[in-house]
Amino acid sequence: MTMRWHNERIILLDPDILLETHLPQEINARVDQIKEIEDCLRPITEGRKPVNCWLHGRPGAGKTATARSIMRKLEKEAGIRGVYVNCWENPTIFSVLECVAKELRMLGAEKLSTSFKLERLKRHISKERIVIVLDEIDQSPPKERNAILYNLCDLPTVGLVCVCNSQYAYFGLEERVKSRLNPARIFFEEYTFKELFTILAQRAQHGLIPDAYTKQLLQTVAGLANGDARIAIQTLKNAAYLAERDNHEKIRSCHVKRAWNSANDVKKSYLLRKLTDHHRLLYELIAKKAGILSGDLWRLYQKMCRTTGTKPIAVRTYSDYCNKLVEVGLVQAKRAAIQGKVREFSVVQ
Ligand SMILES: Nc1ncnc2c1ncn2[C@@H]1O[C@H](COP(=O)(O)OP(=O)(O)OP(=O)(O)O)[C@@H](O)[C@H]1O
Ligand SMILES: [Mg+2]
Repeated sequence: MTMRWHNERIILLDPDILLETHLPQEINARVDQIKEIEDCLRPITEGRKPVNCWLHGRPGAGKTATARSIMRKLEKEAGIRGVYVNCWENPTIFSVLECVAKELRMLGAEKLSTSFKLERLKRHISKERIVIVLDEIDQSPPKERNAILYNLCDLPTVGLVCVCNSQYAYFGLEERVKSRLNPARIFFEEYTFKELFTILAQRAQHGLIPDAYTKQLLQTVAGLANGDARIAIQTLKNAAYLAERDNHEKIRSCHVKRAWNSANDVKKSYLLRKLTDHHRLLYELIAKKAGILSGDLWRLYQKMCRTTGTKPIAVRTYSDYCNKLVEVGLVQAKRAAIQGKVREFSVVQ
């Protein structure tokens, strides 16, 4: 339940509409991606093996919302069972199977080992058509990730929708897993200003008192959110709370600014939580010295590891980790004004 301030002025008509977990009836601005995913999954409606999908793109690009909305539609219109698994919360093959068994109400599967669970699942779904969304698939360790995908894509009437920020996580899979999974890779680009405005207008229309905001205010939020729908919606929600707390009738731009700052801080810590200690250390080092050159960062990182008695990652992994920081939008990289492939890193403010 959401805590409300006990003021006379109410701006949030329905706070749940502005929650991250709220799945709107309509997913705006993702027509192409939705069509592509539906085309891939369509064979399953006729009991044939569908094409698996790999959705990737920056945080807040609507990947989870799109996957969940397609799941809901398939369930409603074609009677296909949808199972949603968050691999951050369930990072092992064992826990993924546990989750699937629970969703499908497979009785007595709890006590079984992984291989027995798989056998039971195969028997159970022999007549069922299922779509499994594996969200945050890059959060399970590589060995488990390979095992999850290898085993699940073997099931004949199961379509897999893998979701994560990165397509590197796909390239890093074992060859036998990649060829078995063979997914259509579907990219979710960042939203444009106009798209974010439409998403915000839809939420505001259902969640806020009409007189509490203007078109211009939504445009300000859309501009600040920089392509990220999560930041946009959180900023609007927090701004509405701040305005209510100040007992104002309308949300003002000062509320938006404060709300955006805190949404941005939450985003950073959320992204960093998803990464390893080594990513976090690299981020901290970059934060301390804007424009640090990649070679200097590598030396500084090794020095920090020696000081703390931590085993450093290999140089190849180091480069992947830096790419990951850039990919999720925590760090920006530009080519240094010296020869070669040297890059300069700075944190994104
Ligand atoms: N096209 C859209 N229409 C309506 N709401 C959207 C749309 N895209 C995203 N949202 C909303 O924005 C928020 C963030 O979207 P979502 O969780 O799908 O992002 P994501 O791409 O999965 O991000 P991450 O990579 O961090 O998991 C959610 O509350 C979602 O409902
Ligand atoms: Mg997501």
